[in-house]
Amino acid sequence: MTVLDMRDVRKVYRSGDADIVALDHATLQVDHGEIVALLGPSGSGKTTLLSIAGGLLAATEGKVMVGGHDISEYDGKQLTEFRRNNVGFVFQSVNLVPFLTAEENLLVVDELGGGKGGKGAKARARQLLEELGLGHRTRNLPSQLSGGERQRVAIGRALFNNPRLVLFDEPTSALDTKLGAQVMELIRNEMKARDTAAIIVTHDRRMTEYADRTVEIVDGRLGAEAPAH
Ligand SMILES: Nc1ncnc2c1ncn2[C@@H]1O[C@H](COP(=O)(O)OP(=O)(O)OP(=O)(O)O)[C@@H](O)[C@H]1O
Ligand SMILES: [Mg+2]
Repeated sequence: MTVLDMRDVRKVYRSGDADIVALDHATLQVDHGEIVALLGPSGSGKTTLLSIAGGLLAATEGKVMVGGHDISEYDGKQLTEFRRNNVGFVFQSVNLVPFLTAEENLLVVDELGGGKGGKGAKARARQLLEELGLGHRTRNLPSQLSGGERQRVAIGRALFNNPRLVLFDEPTSALDTKLGAQVMELIRNEMKARDTAAIIVTHDRRMTEYADRTVEIVDGRLGAEAPAH
């Protein structure tokens, strides 16, 4: 089953007098449980593609289907609801709430969705953090965690609502090579254990070995797709 189906997506940013074509004829399908690496140089359109796939940004042209829903037709309110229930995001800069503990950073997801942070939600947050090797860190603030630990809290937050698609934007760029490899391995294991699809943006070719498939992007155009191995 296809989780993400992007067809002929074009994105033009209007910036003063100049138009910047960030994506051109971008077509990409991601299957249920599939991990796709999106590899490309700086400015090639990777973050733009992720933002459109996750309903954070509207395409200028083209069709974006997630889980069978045509999100290109959604209004702002529908998109907010859609994102909350279907997509997890992990960004380059981790964006944890600095004055909340690791556990509370996960519970924010529940509260945004109208939950009350009740016992079930707390148990789920703890269980997720435990799975991510942070069982002893649930009450720590982000400032008391290492870069790799913060990244794992962000992954836990992205998984909290059982999304069908998780979008990672350079999840290891702030980490050294060894830690980066560990986090990629963890991402792969978590996605496979849950049968969750993922797109992992990177400009580091070594990271593509953790994906099922690699798609290259240059100047807003998706290139030849090669198997990762
Ligand atoms: N809000 C914006 N307004 C105008 N131009 C933008 C905007 N966001 C991105 N761009 C431009 O669109 C192109 C693609 O940007 P994008 O952020 O998607 O690249 P990227 O592949 O994620 O790069 P990086 O690896 O540096 O993060 C670039 O030329 C960028 O300057
Ligand atoms: Mg980017």
